[in-house]
Amino acid sequence: MNDKEVERQVETILGKLSLEEKIGQLNQVGGADFAPGPKAEDQIRKGGAGSVLWLNDTQRFNELQKIAVEESPSGIPLLFALDVIHGYRTIFPVPLAMASSWDPAVPEKSQTVAAKEARAAGLHWTFGPMIDIARDARWGRIVEGAGEDPYLGSAMAAAQVRGFQGRDPSDPERVLACAKHFAGYGASEGGRDYDPVYLPETQLRNTILPPFEAALKAGAATFMSAYMDLNDVPASGNRFLLRQVLRQEWGFEGFVVSDAFAVANMVIQGHARNRRDAALRGIKAGVNVDMSSYTYVENVAGLVADGLLTEAEIDELVRPILAIKVKMGLFEHPYTDETLLAQVVSRPEHRQASRWAAQRSMVLLRNEGGLLPLKKDLKKVAVIGPLADSMEATEGSWMVFGHTPAAVTVLAGLRAKLPAAQVTYAHGPEIRRDIPSWFETSMAGMERKPAQSPADAEAAFQAAIETARAADLVVMVLGETAEMAGEAASRASLDLPGRQEELLKAVAALGKPVVLVLLNGRPLSINWAAEHIPAILEAWEPGTEGGSAVADILFGDAVPGGKLPVCFPHKGSHAPLYYARNLTHSPEGSPMYNPRYWDGLPEPLYPFGYGLSYTTFEFSNLKLSSPQVKVGHSLTVSVDVTNTGSLAGDEVAQLYIHQQWGSDTRPMRELKGFERLTLQPGETKTVNFKLGPDELRYWSTNAGQWIQEAAEFDIWVGSDSQAALHTNFEVVA
Ligand code: BGC
Repeated sequence: MNDKEVERQVETILGKLSLEEKIGQLNQVGGADFAPGPKAEDQIRKGGAGSVLWLNDTQRFNELQKIAVEESPSGIPLLFALDVIHGYRTIFPVPLAMASSWDPAVPEKSQTVAAKEARAAGLHWTFGPMIDIARDARWGRIVEGAGEDPYLGSAMAAAQVRGFQGRDPSDPERVLACAKHFAGYGASEGGRDYDPVYLPETQLRNTILPPFEAALKAGAATFMSAYMDLNDVPASGNRFLLRQVLRQEWGFEGFVVSDAFAVANMVIQGHARNRRDAALRGIKAGVNVDMSSYTYVENVAGLVADGLLTEAEIDELVRPILAIKVKMGLFEHPYTDETLLAQVVSRPEHRQASRWAAQRSMVLLRNEGGLLPLKKDLKKVAVIGPLADSMEATEGSWMVFGHTPAAVTVLAGLRAKLPAAQVTYAHGPEIRRDIPSWFETSMAGMERKPAQSPADAEAAFQAAIETARAADLVVMVLGETAEMAGEAASRASLDLPGRQEELLKAVAALGKPVVLVLLNGRPLSINWAAEHIPAILEAWEPGTEGGSAVADILFGDAVPGGKLPVCFPHKGSHAPLYYARNLTHSPEGSPMYNPRYWDGLPEPLYPFGYGLSYTTFEFSNLKLSSPQVKVGHSLTVSVDVTNTGSLAGDEVAQLYIHQQWGSDTRPMRELKGFERLTLQPGETKTVNFKLGPDELRYWSTNAGQWIQEAAEFDIWVGSDSQAALHTNFEVVA
């Protein structure tokens, strides 16, 4: 359908709506029992709802849709929305893991499958991708994003949008994407979830906003305004973000939904005087949809009657919602075939896609003495740790609203890989949050179990050691449970929770070969392991086929090639830590005023971009198409990558730049190109990167705008953010 036709239909529908029905389109009702506010059904029947969230039941979708279409005065179909963040039934690696693939095909294919399954269940809209840049590993929601870097983050954001939405909104196997949380949420003070964010415009424009602009260019139909204050203005009442940047500068034509209750929360935040004032501020800022705080349905009609809002302002917010419903073909096909989901989720290619995505997402952190890949003739393997047989930890965050985990755990994956071996298992002492999670306190069926007694924990500790003692090789599966990362799941420490490190030390003391597999949703300060455990695989929260993928990698049926999308700090107190910092007075490494802390070096334990494979690579022949380029023009950087080992393997060629001087100071290094390659032993491939105005410009505080300057630039190309192969070029006026 062309734009003119959509517009015509929207105007026809809009023309028939009462003010109350228009406001209803701006109201998103909570479909779950825990959701506050009036019953969804009653709201829908009187035309007081445009969309529904927190509901995950095809039959119920159809029932509510029937009420909307057949009983409500306007008959406008509802949009059903849910957080499908990394898979619906077939779960894919968490987004931080997918970003570790450094392969945009991974999130794109994964979200294509997620969209198919979610849509088959009757969902139209996901609250993803989450594309907040996060440089503080303590922040729990780092698991939902692509890590610390705006260039990598932009590639991952665009890929996810393409995966969810495809090209055509009427595609019945796709869902609407929602770029969230706009904007700055990942930079909360101290990594404490929901806390205020202070970001100067240079950081906002150069670091935080690029993934959002990339999502918009990839076609993201909707955006979500964040919870927190950005520079003392709540993001959901922030005209600078929602009007100036998003609509005026970027030309966004879709619609904005607030984060849950965020409009009403402006009262708590001390921005709005009361709920009515909050509604006024939300509308004025351009928040089209009030997610479940009901401030719009309660107050907007009154605000129009009192002349504080005009009906034209309401129409402006309603139009893009109707336009999407028209474009999706919802008026023609409002219902979902209740038999479809079962057929779609049983497709074997979905599990294969999940296994492939997990293999590509894992990062090999250490492999001393070539312990990995393991040989399949092992006779006795002990698998140890609280996460070794945990489906929840394997699938990771956001597995809520009726999702039942169905993951292949690491234990199950290893048993399947070694049918003839004796694979024993010990859990070890339990690990748990000090403070229960929101889900444990609020969701039926997710209640927290009573804590293990110290005596039982000790018995479990000893049993784990005995299990290890009887084996030829030990696989330790340690890290964080699913509810230790995610929303409202920030941590002050990045150490392995509970007695895990103590257990690791005790097992290592037995003198057997030990492989450490990490399941976790954030960087962890595994300093001891990094020095003493020969093989460490960062598997993140790898999804439904996670255990199979771990086994594939450990036994060499797949090669590790992922790279960290975020630094691993030595300590939680080093956060925020990221590679793209500016050089300052007395740089690190200089004799004066160094080191930064007197109680530990601030360098990361593992740098951004780091990851090994089972072979070795060499970068050589770094060449430029020209040593000089004019402002506004492009040059090509080429480099040869050779597999110098004896096994096939994957490497990610990474290009970093540094502008040596200018109007503003620029980071020591910034990623501006990457490509993941598979190379056979002895094989060489040439990689070409383009550097043009998009890569060389930046938002300048001094100039108050985007600029590209004449200056000298360094270039490094290599396998991580500490790459040594260097050259330089000059940009001339
Ligand atoms: C989260 C959002 C999510 C929303 C709806 C909020 O608590 O911050 O990311 O989309 O809930 O579930």
